[in-house]
Amino acid sequence: GAPETVTPTGARTGVPKIAKGQQGAYLTTANGTRLRDTDHSLKAGPRGPILLQDHHFREKITHFDHERIPERVVHARGTGAHGVFTGYGTADRLTTAGFLAKGKETEVFVRFSTVLGSRGSADTVRDTRGFATKFYTDEGTFDLVGNNMPVFFIQDAIKFPDIIHAAKPHPDREIPQAQSAHDTFWDFVSLHTEAQHHTIWNMSDRGIPRSYRTMEGFGVHTFRLVNAAGETVLVKFHWKPKLGVHSLTWEEAQLLNGIDPDFHRRDLYDAIEAGAFPEWELGIQVFPDTPEETFAGIDLLDPTKIVPEELAEVQPVGRLVLNRTPRNFFAETEQVAFHLGHLPPGIDVTNDPLLQGRLFSYLDTQLTRLAGPNFTQIPINRPHAAVNDMLRDGFHQQAVHAGVAPYRPNSLDGGNPFPAGPDDHPFVDVPVTVAEAPKVRASPASFDDHFSQARLFWLSMSPVEREHIVRAYTFELGKCYHQAIKERQLRALANIDPVLCEQVATGLGLPAPQPSEPLAEVAPSPALSQVGRQWPAD
Ligand code: HEM
Repeated sequence: GAPETVTPTGARTGVPKIAKGQQGAYLTTANGTRLRDTDHSLKAGPRGPILLQDHHFREKITHFDHERIPERVVHARGTGAHGVFTGYGTADRLTTAGFLAKGKETEVFVRFSTVLGSRGSADTVRDTRGFATKFYTDEGTFDLVGNNMPVFFIQDAIKFPDIIHAAKPHPDREIPQAQSAHDTFWDFVSLHTEAQHHTIWNMSDRGIPRSYRTMEGFGVHTFRLVNAAGETVLVKFHWKPKLGVHSLTWEEAQLLNGIDPDFHRRDLYDAIEAGAFPEWELGIQVFPDTPEETFAGIDLLDPTKIVPEELAEVQPVGRLVLNRTPRNFFAETEQVAFHLGHLPPGIDVTNDPLLQGRLFSYLDTQLTRLAGPNFTQIPINRPHAAVNDMLRDGFHQQAVHAGVAPYRPNSLDGGNPFPAGPDDHPFVDVPVTVAEAPKVRASPASFDDHFSQARLFWLSMSPVEREHIVRAYTFELGKCYHQAIKERQLRALANIDPVLCEQVATGLGLPAPQPSEPLAEVAPSPALSQVGRQWPAD
C-alpha cells in the first residue's frame, strides 16, 4: 500500500507503517548502544554480588517485569486475523457508508474470543464467542463488535457487572472458568429471567463451535443506516460463514479441552497458513424506521430478541475473507481495541439501552488496559483514514504535533486544526424526546416478555439438537450445589417448554413444575437450526 505520511499537524495518512522490532546487525540496548554480553550480569568478582551500576541488567529485567498488561475484563482469551472486506453495493440505497460500495475493498482485523475464561483458558468451553471486526475504512474506522449469538443476557448495560460477576470464577477459589458448575450463574439467570433466551443458546450446540470458521456472527443490537437523502432504516447485522455453522459434540469438546486447549486458535491459524481462507458474508435485516421501533410486534431496542429470518430475510451486503495471520500476538491481537462508537458516516446507533451503555464501557476499560488515552496510535488501532484531531499529549503520545495547541477558531496557526466538515454525512435528527421525557429508572413494558423467544428457539430445533440442549442443562445444573437454584431454573424452563422442563427435571431427579404463565404461541424458525437449515453453496 501507499507509504504512511505525517502532515505538519501530526495527522497521519496512508497505510500505517508496522514498527520494525529489530534493526541492525548487532545486539544493542534500548537506546541503540552496542552490547558485548547479555548473558552475564556485572558483578564484584566472579562470585560477588551484582553491581547497581549494571544498567543493562536493570533495563533488561525491568522491561521484562512490565511485559504483561491487564487482560480484558471479559473476552480475555482471543485470537485474531487480518483480511479484506469487499462490498457488494447492495446497500447503496440505504447507507452512504463507502466501504459497502460495489467492489470496494477494505482492510479488516477480526478478533474471535470466549467471554468468561482468562487469557490462558481452553478454547472449546461452553460459552458465548466474541466476533469483533475492525474495518479500516477510508471514512474512519468501523468496529462491528458482535457475538456468535444474536441475543444478550441483559437488556440494560447497568446489569453487565452483575451478569459477569455471576458468571466469572468465584472470588475465593477462582473456579470454574466457564459456566459449568456455577451456582452463581444459574442463580442469576433463574432470578433474572430476561437471560433465559441467551442461556438456551448457550446450552445449545451454538455454545461449543467446531471452529471460528464455522460460526455465525451478530451485531445483536439494532443499528440505524442513513442514506444520502437523509432517510433512515433500522438494521441488524449478520455474519454468515461460507462453511456453514458447525459445532462440537459435548464429548468432543471435553476431550479437546484436554488434548488441545488451543484447538480454535490453532484451527484458524493453520487454515489461513494453508491458504484455506475463511469467509463470511455480511448481511443485514432491514426494518422500517418507525417511531415505535418495532417489527412484527418485536421490540427492536430489546437485545434479548431476534427477528426470525423468515420474517425479515438477511440481505447480503459484502464478503469478508481472512487471509493473513498476525505477525505478533501481543502487538495485534492483545492490543487491538474495539469500540461501538467507531462508526463511519451512514451507520448510526439506536437507543437500545445495552448498546448505549457499551458506548461508555469500552473506551473506559481501554484507558486502563492500554495505559492512557493514546492507544489509537498503536499500529493495530490506527485508522487508515487521515487523522486530524484536537487531542494532544497524554501517556504514550507518539505524534509530534506542530503549531499552537489546538483551539478553534484561531488566527495564529493558519486555521489549524482544519475546520470541521463540510459534513457530507447527512445529519439525522433522530426523534429522541429527552427534553419532555420524565427521568426514570425503568424499561418499556415490551421488555417484560422473557420466555417467548426462548420457546421459539427450542421449537425450531431438530430432535438431535433438542437432545443436546436437554443434556447440557442437565449436566450444568447437575453441578449446582444449591437445590433451590436448580428448582428455580426448572420453573423458568417450564415457561419455555414443558417437554424441555420435564426431560431436564428427570435428569436431575427432581419433579417438573408447571408453567407459571401461558406458553407463547410462536411459529418455529427453521433458520435457527443448524441441522435443518440449508447453507448456500458458493
Ligand atoms: C469486550 C461483545 C455487551 C463491556 C467485548 C468483546 C466482544 C464483546 C466481542 C471482545 C472485543 C475484543 O475482541 O477485543 C459484546 C456484545 C455485547 C456486549 C455482543 C452485547 C450485545 C457488553 C456490555 C458491556 C460490555 C453491556 C458493559 C456495559 C465489555 C468490556 C470489554 C468487552 C469492558 C473488554 C474490552 C477491552 O478490554 O478492550 N465485548 N459485549 N460488553 N465488553 Fe462487551
